[in-house]
Amino acid sequence: MDKQAEIGFRMTAKTFHGLEEVLADEIRELGGKDIQILNRAVQFQGDKGLLYKSNLHLRTAIRILIPLIEAPIKNQIDLYNRVREYEWEKHIESGKTLAIDSFIHSSTFSNSHFVSLRTKDAIVDRLRDKFGRRPSINTTNPDVFVNVHLSGNNLTVSLDTSGPSLHKRGYRKADGPAPLNEVLAAGMILLTGWKGETDFYDPMCGSGTLGIEAALIARKIPPGIFRKQFGFENSPDFDAGLFEDIFDSVEERNWEGTIFSSDISKPAIQAAMKNAREASVHKNINFRGVSFLGYPVVEKTSMAIINPPYGQRILQPEIISFYKAIGDTLKRSFKGSKVWIISSNTDALKHVGLKPSSKLVLFNGPLECGYHRFDIYDGSKKAKYQQ
Ligand SMILES: C[S@@+](CC[C@H](N)C(=O)[O-])C[C@H]1O[C@@H](n2cnc3c(N)ncnc32)[C@H](O)[C@@H]1O
Repeated sequence: MDKQAEIGFRMTAKTFHGLEEVLADEIRELGGKDIQILNRAVQFQGDKGLLYKSNLHLRTAIRILIPLIEAPIKNQIDLYNRVREYEWEKHIESGKTLAIDSFIHSSTFSNSHFVSLRTKDAIVDRLRDKFGRRPSINTTNPDVFVNVHLSGNNLTVSLDTSGPSLHKRGYRKADGPAPLNEVLAAGMILLTGWKGETDFYDPMCGSGTLGIEAALIARKIPPGIFRKQFGFENSPDFDAGLFEDIFDSVEERNWEGTIFSSDISKPAIQAAMKNAREASVHKNINFRGVSFLGYPVVEKTSMAIINPPYGQRILQPEIISFYKAIGDTLKRSFKGSKVWIISSNTDALKHVGLKPSSKLVLFNGPLECGYHRFDIYDGSKKAKYQQ
């Protein structure tokens, strides 16, 4: 066993604002050590097995990076030199293609395209000297992804071990209007604490993301199981046997509950059913093309997450009265259940007419959203005080 494998190495899992804590819990459960919560990221320590597991199992990670270079830099010459002196030949074999992604918060360097170009030049020059040939750049489907982060004058260059973003689970074959990012949907579910204890409702399901992610959580199916490839599989030290063992050790749970996914739009239900079949969870989901307003009474205590139109990307006439009608339906049909609603329309959210017991802030793409929890009491005082 080499030294790095013995002592492990540091990894950074990137996520969305508000999901850092649930991601840290997921990493802890997988066996990550020295966990540190950052802004939209979690750092942790582990070995190669944990790296593979993280890519396969983490529901709320967008990508897993291995930081290779961390250095202060003053100008583009420093940038070039720091990148060129790193031993890239350890990570990029001769003949492999390469892409660079840069994220800049710096007054010295304002152009991320320029930073990507200088980084690329330095890596290409280093590898040409070592191998006698230049690696090619392929921005659409590269073998190796390199991630550059410049905060002020602090440069971090990392190997992106995931490749395409981990929200690309591989099951989405059909889109509805304004689909949720899969990582955000999984995070929204984990933030509620639900892991399959009750039935689950996604009554404005669109393309079905919340219901499908809920089924994957309830059945303990890793979200990466449908992906054809991860970035780390192109690494010169990729251990195919170890990855196969990790893949083979996945144990699905036989889950007896039901997920109820519905939508007023028939094409949306068709899309949701197609995606659920792709994810092999269609048997766990009851699909219905019905309006939420007028929803039948839910008999069992359940969990519901509602992602209604916000009146921004989707035009929704009379959005305030629509949100009021959502509240009326909840009071009538979801007594005893816990319900979470996400919306960027915080004004409309106030008209649900129920007092939120918790208010979180999440971002659905660029839209800042309230994510509010409502505990729907069943009306009797006994039920209210003895829950
Ligand atoms: C923001 S989209 C949901 C996107 C979904 N979470 C996804 O990941 O694809 C809102 C959905 O609410 C549905 N909708 C609008 N009014 C509805 C109603 N009265 N009852 C049920 N669904 C409704 C729309 O058809 C649309 O699919």
